[in-house]
Amino acid sequence: MLDTLKNRRTIRKYSNRDISDELLNELLEISFRAPTTGNMQVYSVVITRDTDNKKKLAPAHFNQPTVTQAPVVLTFCADFNRFIKWCRYRNANPGYENFQSFVTAALDAVIVTQQFNTAAEAVGLGCCYLGTTTYNAPQIVEILNLPRYVIPITTLTVGYPEDIPEQTERLPLEAIVHYETYSDYSKDDIDRLYLEKESDPANKQYIIENQKETLAQIFTDIRYTKENNEIYSKVLLDLIKKQGFEF
Ligand SMILES: Cc1cc2nc3c(=O)[nH]c(=O)nc-3n(C[C@H](O)[C@H](O)[C@H](O)COP(=O)(O)O)c2cc1C
Repeated sequence: MLDTLKNRRTIRKYSNRDISDELLNELLEISFRAPTTGNMQVYSVVITRDTDNKKKLAPAHFNQPTVTQAPVVLTFCADFNRFIKWCRYRNANPGYENFQSFVTAALDAVIVTQQFNTAAEAVGLGCCYLGTTTYNAPQIVEILNLPRYVIPITTLTVGYPEDIPEQTERLPLEAIVHYETYSDYSKDDIDRLYLEKESDPANKQYIIENQKETLAQIFTDIRYTKENNEIYSKVLLDLIKKQGFEF
């Protein structure tokens, strides 16, 4: 298990081999063993296998090829719908239409997703998270027919790897770990801790291709811009409210 975790990487291209219902259900059962707030399991998963339905989802993921190429696409949702219904049918008064409950359900959804990812990788499957799920959540709500109190949080495309790409670099342990209290970073710390990332040949190539001065500019000016973050923040916040979480 530790070797699987150490050697893992995101897989975006898949072979033609399908994933059996039996294996998929087993992996889902395993992922549902993940810890969950109060054992409420306030999440749901929508399985997309149908080619036409994958094509419908693709634009919501900015047509990333992995969506239509993967045999299985899983949309993990924060879901208080089922739990609120259970409460109402059992003469219990649910108080879950608020920010705290949304965060609870979103955390549950993320944890279950990662447990699925780990289990899938352990049996030789490859996965790719799609952050586009929260960018275009309103379209995904429509396509998947998600009711009130259900919000798509993240998506995994899953399949057998076509090839195994290089592992990507990581920050060193000392960049991330703080002992007892948080020790803030000086400029020298930042220079040292990001040196390996900035020396990575693939990252250097991005800078050249995009005619930027620094790797950080690839993030601020191209991949995750202020403008886009502000637009998609509003879209997501409005959707969360529309789906019934008032705050
Ligand atoms: C929340 C989240 C959203 C992501 N969104 C995307 C995505 O939309 N498209 C994609 O190709 N990879 C996506 N990824 C994969 C990351 O790019 C990848 O995990 C990261 O570059 C590190 O590479 P590795 O997983 O191979 O170690 C996402 C990962 C996470 C955790």
